Amino acid sequence: MIGYLSDVLSNLFIGESKNEAMSLTKDDAFIELKRHVEANEKDVQLLEWFEKDPTRFEKFTRHFPTPDGDFLFDFSKNRITDESFQLLMKLAKSRGVEESRNAMFSAEKINFTENRAVLHIALRNRANRPIHVDGKDVMPDVNRVLAHMKEFCNEIISGSWTGYTGKKITDVVNIGIGGSDLGPLMVTESLKHYQNGPNVHFVSNVDGTHVAEVTKKLNAETTLFIIASKTFTTQETITNAETAKEWFLSKAGDPSAVAKHFVALSTNVPKAVEFGIDEKNMFEFWDWVGGRYSLWSAIGLSIAVHIGFDNYEKLLDGAFAVDEHFVNAPLEKNIPVILAMIGVLYNNVYGAETHALLPYDQYMHRFAAYFQQGDMESNGKFVTRHGTRVDYSTGPIVWGEPGTNGQHAFYQLIHQGTRLIPADFIAPVKTLNPIRNGLHHQILLANFLAQSEALMKGKTKEVAESELKAAGMSSESIEKILPHKVFEGNKPTTSIVLPVVTPFTLGSLIAFYEHKIFVQGIIWDICSFDQWGVELGKQLAKVIQPELASSDNVTSHDASTNGLIAFIKKNNA
Ligand code: F6P
Repeated sequence: MIGYLSDVLSNLFIGESKNEAMSLTKDDAFIELKRHVEANEKDVQLLEWFEKDPTRFEKFTRHFPTPDGDFLFDFSKNRITDESFQLLMKLAKSRGVEESRNAMFSAEKINFTENRAVLHIALRNRANRPIHVDGKDVMPDVNRVLAHMKEFCNEIISGSWTGYTGKKITDVVNIGIGGSDLGPLMVTESLKHYQNGPNVHFVSNVDGTHVAEVTKKLNAETTLFIIASKTFTTQETITNAETAKEWFLSKAGDPSAVAKHFVALSTNVPKAVEFGIDEKNMFEFWDWVGGRYSLWSAIGLSIAVHIGFDNYEKLLDGAFAVDEHFVNAPLEKNIPVILAMIGVLYNNVYGAETHALLPYDQYMHRFAAYFQQGDMESNGKFVTRHGTRVDYSTGPIVWGEPGTNGQHAFYQLIHQGTRLIPADFIAPVKTLNPIRNGLHHQILLANFLAQSEALMKGKTKEVAESELKAAGMSSESIEKILPHKVFEGNKPTTSIVLPVVTPFTLGSLIAFYEHKIFVQGIIWDICSFDQWGVELGKQLAKVIQPELASSDNVTSHDASTNGLIAFIKKNNA
């Protein structure tokens, strides 16, 4: 008995000390970083660092070559110095970023809460190196599904796949939600310029308005539905898919026509078959593909059909090039690691709560929405991998809109509000629409450059005052208005300059952010690969739905929820 108790106690003790060792705030490298920044860097103006160090731009920029031109990552407008940068890299080392990265690439089951490997990198493993899960190389399966996708795309685009009246498919509707929607939506929008196949539409919201408005414009004879769901159990997607089938049958009449107009993308073949999808119209993927990382899998079918399979392969190539960089580049040259560690600096040392993604490219207008899921579903966690509550902030709130629209909406708060809002400014050097001799793009880029400059430089009281004097304002008026004209500046930004938006460069850009999120999860010692937090609401919705349908008085919830249910029922009678 005494032996048993002492075993339990010693396990507890070991467990506790392990947890302590893993806590970010107790990590010596983090303590050193925090102390250094607080003592030496917190109150320094970014501009002073530029003045003191003429090599700052060269020092804090990184290039990434692609067949479509170089990327430039300019980290120099961030609150980093040689010292803090080295301390951030030391922290990445101390947290085991390299070991964890290697564990992911060697298919260890790092998604331990679901006992799964995390292998979106296998889907774009263009070198075709074997990757083993449970002793089996996954690459033959990956290649088989890619070949099936290619065959399907070619049939749709060439017109050899016809609808029930023999007509070519002109419109494809992707029905999915979350990762089964946002990735294909963001990429098809971003790569619209490369359209080579049918138009693609998206239905995600269970609000019937979404499916009703999309189908309104479509002709059933020439429309194909892609039902995209990893689990094939998601309530919104299954409801929308059934509604689409009803709509289709109301036009086509004959149930045997369904096979020519419905395909499924899923890990759950039996459920898709049960829904009525012909097994040969199934595009499979596997449980080691996270929903928010699934655009590289069969979930990318709507992308491939829209831009053509060759272009889809270039998207994969672009991501693969970044995977190779992430695996091979030393930490201080490793772009995803630098992106991640600068984010950790703001999140955990400066106390920033959000991170803005600001693409200066209209095609990329859903980029921030896409990485809202990518980042917030991955790193929105409050317990460490050992199950203890963290005593530091984890994933930031990710948000953004394309420039220049955002400038006229929320930039005021970034410039003169009270919060620190680190932001990534993203822009392509070349536009795909050089209308009016490139005038639009020149204005766009001028704004892109001006905003990050203004955020850093701000405007001092002296400059503001002399401007007002020069405009002929009286000293009395100047005194009143002056405080409102001051910009404190020193707002950090990273500028990411793409050569041009192509399938390859977009694939690369997405992969940079995916790996950034991965690295931050390691620093924060959280499981970035599950999403249990979205389950509770789903469970409760299933309880409430029949309550809304029944005429009984509902009393089983808290007073607020009961009251809301009663109000809705009374007013919907
Ligand atoms: O919102 C939770 C979630 O599980 C996401 O992770 C996923 O992308 C989405 O739902 C859709 O799931 P499925 O592809 O299984 O329909």
